[in-house]
Amino acid sequence: MSAADSITIARPDDWHVHLRDGAMLRDVLPWTARQFARAIVMPNLSPPVTDMASAAAYRERIIAAIPPGIDFTPLMTCYLTDDTDPDDLARGAAEGVFTAAKLYPANATTNSARGVSDMRRIYPLLGRMEAEGIVLCVHGEVTDAQVDVFDREAEFIECHLRPITHNFPRLKVVFEHITTQEAVNFVLESGGNLAATITPQHLHLNRNAMLVGGIRPHAYCLPVAKREAHRLALRKAATSGDPRFFLGTDSAPHLRAAKESACGCAGIFNAPFAIESYCTVFDEERALDRLEGFASLHGPAFYGLPVNRATITLERREVEVPAMLSAAGEGIVPFHAGETLGWRLVS
Ligand code: DOR
Ligand code: ZN
Repeated sequence: MSAADSITIARPDDWHVHLRDGAMLRDVLPWTARQFARAIVMPNLSPPVTDMASAAAYRERIIAAIPPGIDFTPLMTCYLTDDTDPDDLARGAAEGVFTAAKLYPANATTNSARGVSDMRRIYPLLGRMEAEGIVLCVHGEVTDAQVDVFDREAEFIECHLRPITHNFPRLKVVFEHITTQEAVNFVLESGGNLAATITPQHLHLNRNAMLVGGIRPHAYCLPVAKREAHRLALRKAATSGDPRFFLGTDSAPHLRAAKESACGCAGIFNAPFAIESYCTVFDEERALDRLEGFASLHGPAFYGLPVNRATITLERREVEVPAMLSAAGEGIVPFHAGETLGWRLVS
């Protein structure tokens, strides 16, 4: 096998994932842990993980669900509300319970009703986070009813993110699951304290893929996929080698019935073949030599964590993604369902 047909990289991390809870957690976690050494775990449970005690308890439930013999470390986040206790957050970070805090604008997405209703209200908290060196992960979409869903990320930059980064220049901010050229540009023109994660689906899908020839609920997530020019901008950013862009799958499992519904849930369950999906993109972009930076190096550097010592190997061998998997005793449809990917994780 030639070098171009096999790639070995430091074991990657997932800097944004939804692991859920209970039976769903038990069935989705092995997919993530098979590939990733660590993951930033989203706190949008119902009820959300809003304090140190509930994060520590959730972390224990995740650890209990790790398959035997697999090395996986969940990195917990605090769901910010209008009333987050700054002392609890700071203590949770100091004691290693929290790796970051998550900002959901209220009602932006799944289980975000208790999110932040007015960004200015949490400015004192952001000041504390800046002083304590706590990373802020941001769901960057405005929620105003009059703003078109395809414009919500770009609006968020001007209305909220630019003011936040201006007022708190030393605050470390991750602009999560970016979907637009505007977001790429904003990261590029900022200093090293702003980074962005990019999902596999936003590298593969544009909005036509979701809406042309029939509505495809399994291609629907938030932020929603945008037009082709944006997808191309994301592919360029992800494969550029710029350390401000790194891997975050935003794998967000919902049962098939909840997706294939008159009001289907937002979220794409991409955990099963995530690294294969990213590898395919990097291969198509002739950038396989940059996969390790994006998947395994840039994230730890931003978070100030060590690079994983273990490695993974992918080979240019076809892998068929099942049309359906099961979780919590029901059907769940993975990203790339029924497709064949050209790269396989072999160890
Ligand atoms: O599509 C999404 N699904 N976007 C989010 O922000 C939340 C997530 C979920 O939790 O289902
Ligand atoms: Zn998410």
